[in-house]
Amino acid sequence: MQNKSIIVALDTVTLNETSSIISELDPNKCMVKVGSVLFNAEGRAALDLVANAGFEIFFDLKFHDIPNTVKSSIESFKSFPIKFFTVHLSGGKSMLSAAKEAAELINAGCIGVSVLTSLSNEEAYTVYTRSIENTVSDMFELAKSSGGTGVVCSPLELKLAQAVIPNLIKITPGIRANQNKTDDQTRTLSAKAAITQGADFLVIGRPITEAKDIGSAFDAIYHSIYE
Ligand code: C5P
Repeated sequence: MQNKSIIVALDTVTLNETSSIISELDPNKCMVKVGSVLFNAEGRAALDLVANAGFEIFFDLKFHDIPNTVKSSIESFKSFPIKFFTVHLSGGKSMLSAAKEAAELINAGCIGVSVLTSLSNEEAYTVYTRSIENTVSDMFELAKSSGGTGVVCSPLELKLAQAVIPNLIKITPGIRANQNKTDDQTRTLSAKAAITQGADFLVIGRPITEAKDIGSAFDAIYHSIYE
């Protein structure tokens, strides 16, 4: 198991809110996710804020463009402690190779996003004209053949990922303590179950960031996987 398996998703829109959340977290026990919500609102100041507090960054901008644009965009983040960044696997092999070159330059891991877990079977069929499982499986193969570091996948794709890409890192959102639906996440697993099924890292947002006591909510999940 990784020693910092939990990635706390900072889906906040101000530096003040972000600051108040990270003040309750320990950079020796977790990483943080900066994605489109926070980055579009506060830009590089958000990266500075979390970096200065000692956190490694899961930079989840899901890059998807022509190879040269993706490469240049990623390379511009060289000065930040980015451990992983994300790209859409549907960008294709040339784009993924360009992203990998950029990853080496900024010393980060390149993580591929396959089919968005929010897509229903029907929506996915309209886009990909075949089953989600076949599409995801081929995208996992593409992640491997293009030299990627890992993938983001739903907890329900962990078994498929273990079979197709046993040696790549698997990062999983959709973590909830119990499986009664209380928000927009539908296909969830507990933190412990996701780790047991092969997840290396868990992206967890609201169960931690919207808790009354953020430190205790984090500790409860942390202890559930490390004890
Ligand atoms: O608040 P919650 O725990 O649902 O946050 C999950 C995080 O993982 C969010 O930042 C969300 O954008 C991200 N994510 C996801 N599903 C994906 C990919 C990323 O929930 N397929």
